Amino acid sequence: MRLLVTGGAGFIGSNFVQFWLDRHPADELVVFDALTYAGNLENLSDLNDRRGYRFVKGRIEDAEAVRRAMDGGEVVVHFAAESFVDRSIVGPQVFVTTNVVGSQVLFDAAREAGVRLFVHVSTDEVYGSLGSTGRFSEETPYAPGNPYSASKAASDLLALAYYKTFGFPVVITHGSNNYGPYQFPEKFIPLFILRAMEGKPLPLYGDGLNVRDWIHVRDHCLGLALIVERGKAGETYNFGGDCERTNLEIARRICELAGRSDALIQFVKDRPGHDRRYAIDYAKAARELGFAPTTSIEAALPEVFRWYADHEPWWRHILSGEYQNFYAQWYAERGGGT
Ligand code: NAD
Ligand code: TYD
Repeated sequence: MRLLVTGGAGFIGSNFVQFWLDRHPADELVVFDALTYAGNLENLSDLNDRRGYRFVKGRIEDAEAVRRAMDGGEVVVHFAAESFVDRSIVGPQVFVTTNVVGSQVLFDAAREAGVRLFVHVSTDEVYGSLGSTGRFSEETPYAPGNPYSASKAASDLLALAYYKTFGFPVVITHGSNNYGPYQFPEKFIPLFILRAMEGKPLPLYGDGLNVRDWIHVRDHCLGLALIVERGKAGETYNFGGDCERTNLEIARRICELAGRSDALIQFVKDRPGHDRRYAIDYAKAARELGFAPTTSIEAALPEVFRWYADHEPWWRHILSGEYQNFYAQWYAERGGGT
């Protein structure tokens, strides 16, 4: 099989590429990625000399570049996106350009190329926020609460409209919060791991009682691989980790792993529009694809902590430059995080 993976130099994309090629060594795979601040070729360095693997640098909004990369591809797995909620609050425009316009350009190129399947990797955040009960199913109405999730929701709706109008063979997936190796340390878990290792304050938003349903990136990749193998065009599938935890619980566990007191936790001004709770009902994926998450966060967090401890050159390198400017401004406004 020949796959095109957009955003394959990012966190989930690079984990997926490794996951797929380990299981399908004879496949051809092209990674198409703009290498924004979040994309890093070091995430794929193990594949450099591998037959059948190729990297192409380009933006998904660039129709000509996308068309060239798509040539001969049978399946597209589309990860490329701006993915961080806080950045979408500071600067929403690029989220619309990449996540909405870029996705539309890709859809058109994929239709033209006649791909067999297009996997549109989206997020549970399109459903908005839950109260203290219930879970998101594929039937939950969309109610995105920030520019990031709104841009992902817009691209999902466009994908579904392309299915209805053109018979575009798209499958939409909604993964819950991922964690694991190669996650850019602006996101909650790796940010707190690195800061706890260095004994720096951990900026916890609001009362710290927001809940996320954590899925290990390996389990998410397993779900996505099942879609490539068995997904049905026009369908949506949710993937969760059965692992609802408050941010405070996770922050305390990270302090423990770092051998630090939880006095490091600093309650800071909340994220505007902060979704309270996410939880995923993945019964459809279980029933139709045989999906089940295999990892609990209690079991996996020590391993993830160790990964970051063992990969200091990787994170020192990507945390230089532009990221520092974002960090300084955002956390200064929240009254913490220095
Ligand atoms: P990431 O930010 O780590 O990686 C995004 C990748 O996309 C980077 O390699 C970046 O260089 C590339 N990219 C960005 N803009 C581009 C453009 N215009 N053209 C080409 N490439 C571009 O993101 P991630 O956490 O790996 O998320 C991947 C996908 O999964 C996203 O679509 C995201 O919405 C979705 N998702 C993420 C989570 C999560 O918890 N991280 C959960 C569910 C779904
Ligand atoms: P994040 O990793 O940004 O994922 P998302 O907002 O897409 O779910 O954040 C996870 C949770 O952690 C979310 O409730 C916000 C919270 N959070 C903090 O409390 N402090 C931080 O510095 C960050 C980045 C996140």
